[in-house]
Amino acid sequence: MKTAIVYATTTGNTEQLANAAKETAGTDAYFSTADVADSAEVLSADLILLGSPAMGAEQLEDSMEAFFSSIEGQLSGKKVVLFGSYDWGGGQFIDDWAERVSAAGAEVTGCVKAQLAPDENALSEIKSLIK
Ligand SMILES: Cc1cc2nc3c(=O)[nH]c(=O)nc-3n(C[C@H](O)[C@H](O)[C@H](O)COP(=O)(O)O)c2cc1C
Repeated sequence: MKTAIVYATTTGNTEQLANAAKETAGTDAYFSTADVADSAEVLSADLILLGSPAMGAEQLEDSMEAFFSSIEGQLSGKKVVLFGSYDWGGGQFIDDWAERVSAAGAEVTGCVKAQLAPDENALSEIKSLIK
């Protein structure tokens, strides 16, 4: 099974989740920041993990918004895990993102939300979603 992990981060919190996912997914996984991600690589994966911090007012970070918009129309039938870090919004932006992914015809197989830096539970949770 091929896994792709694409994320954006501003202070490293979402990156900690991405790195935990990478540890479990192994060296065959495609791993990239959103600003330079290759959409063909991502769309060829069986499981796609996308991560972003909450920015703006419950919005995706800009480079993830741009990348996600570029693949949003091609997600039908895919399995997608969403993850990210927030501070004061309770992770609402992940719920909104999950709605977009579902509306695109993909299956959201899990969401991992961390307030600021992820704790051990969040790190274990993202690892458990890779299967
Ligand atoms: C400009 C800016 C906008 C933010 N907007 C939100 C927001 O709308 N909701 C929220 O819960 N947190 C918001 N935050 C907090 C970040 O999501 C939080 O610091 C997060 O841990 C950053 O993750 P990162 O280290 O992966 O970039 C914002 C932070 C900044 C700097």
